[in-house]
Amino acid sequence: MQEYSNLNLVEHPLLQRDLTILRDKDTDQNLFRIALRRVSSILAFEISKGFKVDTFEIETPLETTTGYKLAQEIVLVPVLRAGLSMVNAFLEIIPEAKVGHIGIQRNEVTLEPIDYYYKTPKNIDRAKVILLDPMLATGGSGAAALNFLKNRGAVECIFACLVASPQGIRKIESVHPDVKVYAAALDRTLNDKGYILPGLGDAGDRTFGTL
Ligand code: PRP
Ligand code: URA
Repeated sequence: MQEYSNLNLVEHPLLQRDLTILRDKDTDQNLFRIALRRVSSILAFEISKGFKVDTFEIETPLETTTGYKLAQEIVLVPVLRAGLSMVNAFLEIIPEAKVGHIGIQRNEVTLEPIDYYYKTPKNIDRAKVILLDPMLATGGSGAAALNFLKNRGAVECIFACLVASPQGIRKIESVHPDVKVYAAALDRTLNDKGYILPGLGDAGDRTFGTL
């Protein structure tokens, strides 16, 4: 797997179980959302292992001891729509995080990303920014979202996705070599419509019932 210097493939038995639920074409919208949320929790735990902490003194009921707090502001940025389904799981584990939003939709024919909405917190230059999007297919949407975040001053970005394709990983590696991609699965390839194989279909449509 070290073929990709920017990929951190997260391995966990519960991820494999939930990815099976997500991939199954017969999984309904409710179960799909629940499994997506659980996978996002595991990704959030894995990514947050790298967070730095500052120490300070606190008083327990018995004596003084060392307390810890996150040393850096965390900003979560879901790519609309499918990225929205990852936000709450991340916020449960990192409740102090701020949340920005980026609206990007692929043109179904050209597969080029079309952006329609941006809103991010101020001062993201000092934050650790975590881009959330379950699917990294051609990488066009992810690369465009990272361009936007860097143009707004972001310096430290991580990309959290569920399923990545080799083409998407390579695209991010070439355009944003500083960005580490965390993924729950690296799939085989893309089909001629830009869908990941074996994949799980259209994550936004399956989450929101717009199939
Ligand atoms: C999906 C997905 C990513 C993008 C990945 O969004 O959530 O944003 O496609 O494809 P890419 O790597 O080839 O750019 P989509 O455009 O379907 O929008 P939606 O979430 O609103 O359905
Ligand atoms: N977007 C999705 O939701 N799924 C894919 O397989 C590719 C892009």
